[in-house]
Amino acid sequence: MTAVIGIDIGTSGTKTLAMDEEGKVLADCTSEEYPVHRPKPLHSEQDPEDWWKATVSTVRSVMERSGLAPEEVAAIGLSGQMHGSVFLDSQNRVIRKALLWNDQRTEKEVKEIEKLAGGPKALIKMVANPAMTGFTAPKILWLRNNHPEQFKRMVKVLLPKDYIRLRLTGEFATEVSDASGTLLLDVARRRWSSELLAALDLKESLLARCYESHEVTGRLTAEAAKELGLSTRCKVVGGAGDCAAGAVGTGIVQKGRLSTSIGTSGVMFVHCDDVIIHDEGRVHTFCHAVAGKWHMMGVNLSAGGALQWFRNKLCRSLVAMCQSCEVEAYEVLGLEAAKAPRGSDGLFFLPHMSGERTPHRNANARGALVGLTESHHRGHVVRAIMEGVTYNLRDSLAIFRELGVPVEEVRASGGGGKSALWRQIQADVLGHEIRRLKVEQGPAYGVAILAAVGAGIQPDVPTACAKYVELADDKHLPDAAARAFYDRGFEIYKMLYPALETAFQKIAELG
Ligand code: XUL
Repeated sequence: MTAVIGIDIGTSGTKTLAMDEEGKVLADCTSEEYPVHRPKPLHSEQDPEDWWKATVSTVRSVMERSGLAPEEVAAIGLSGQMHGSVFLDSQNRVIRKALLWNDQRTEKEVKEIEKLAGGPKALIKMVANPAMTGFTAPKILWLRNNHPEQFKRMVKVLLPKDYIRLRLTGEFATEVSDASGTLLLDVARRRWSSELLAALDLKESLLARCYESHEVTGRLTAEAAKELGLSTRCKVVGGAGDCAAGAVGTGIVQKGRLSTSIGTSGVMFVHCDDVIIHDEGRVHTFCHAVAGKWHMMGVNLSAGGALQWFRNKLCRSLVAMCQSCEVEAYEVLGLEAAKAPRGSDGLFFLPHMSGERTPHRNANARGALVGLTESHHRGHVVRAIMEGVTYNLRDSLAIFRELGVPVEEVRASGGGGKSALWRQIQADVLGHEIRRLKVEQGPAYGVAILAAVGAGIQPDVPTACAKYVELADDKHLPDAAARAFYDRGFEIYKMLYPALETAFQKIAELG
């Protein structure tokens, strides 16, 4: 048998799976959760060593459970949380914990980049996107401004999955989809932007060599092969950032297809055959993991994350009770939310709990519950969170439509996509039929598909997806009355952020 492995270095844990030539998952394994360190509010860091340990343990577990022999694994695909910064010294040692995608400490550096690039418009011209606090380039400048000693020692900066690649292959390599989120890639030309690097006074040698996502970037070193229980013949392909990897795994690889993904973040991802750029950068334009194609995406930093916060921090006794009866607390909360009426009896939720990218691009934005009355109960709040996150997705959809990007088919994915209630809310709020996959395996499956292409099992990504990705039969159709109701609700939702924007700024200044 010939098999491939997909590994996704997520924010809460690492998921690994093995897939055969027919696209069947032979075994999968998700690591224990590893911690996100938050030394200050809105700072967010992880220890790359935790990712490596999770990679080794999940690959070993998948190998054991699938019964595959080492030589049967032809290739590995890597996916991971985007935008993180692994700073390395000349001995490939990690200089400090990696700053993550939802870290908001770089507001000053965002302004500095805009200035050095000759203004926000000039910057968008170079790299197709505006500077955002979570992106990698502002993190590099933050190190230079705040820890010049560490900056001096730094010889490479890698994205999370590319650090794992270094441990696997000894190669410094990345690929176009994840590289797009560094803010240093000339997205239209699919190569590092020498223009922006020069403006920021950064050397290109800091960055890894950039490949297309299905291309082979190296093979396992003898040491890594031994530690993982694989063969040195095993190739490692470029892989993709988790959004593009998830999109490949969901079949969003042709014009007209869009996915909604509700994980920690909420992502609206639409395939584009050409580079389309919003001139104020209200949505991201990145290279797709399909060779020579692009995608646009709107990102809400706290989607499923908001519900997770509510469950973990405000429902502790429910979680404890559920644990003792082996029930998922989310299921109980979902049942309570289903009993609340559409519109949550006038309760609205703004999901900007980690600051926000789309559509407001404001590191100081906050979450808010607006319209509380004494008759609201827990189910109302859960439903309001689901509705607020979905209104935020609708913001992105409206921008795609404004730009003339065709949307014919919407596929729901991520943890939030598993809830039938949330899928119906999506159908009603977005005014679109919502489909889902028969079996959803997330970004790890997407990069297993890329590995199958890199290993020569499949000719290209769209052909592989047509063969491997299957839709479930069920569909959620928008209900006419609900849709009209949510159209009115959306108008109110859109009034809330502008009404609170100045207050958010003052709250940030209050310290
Ligand atoms: C995408 C983004 C997040 C992370 C989460 O731009 O920041 O989706 O990749 O894993």
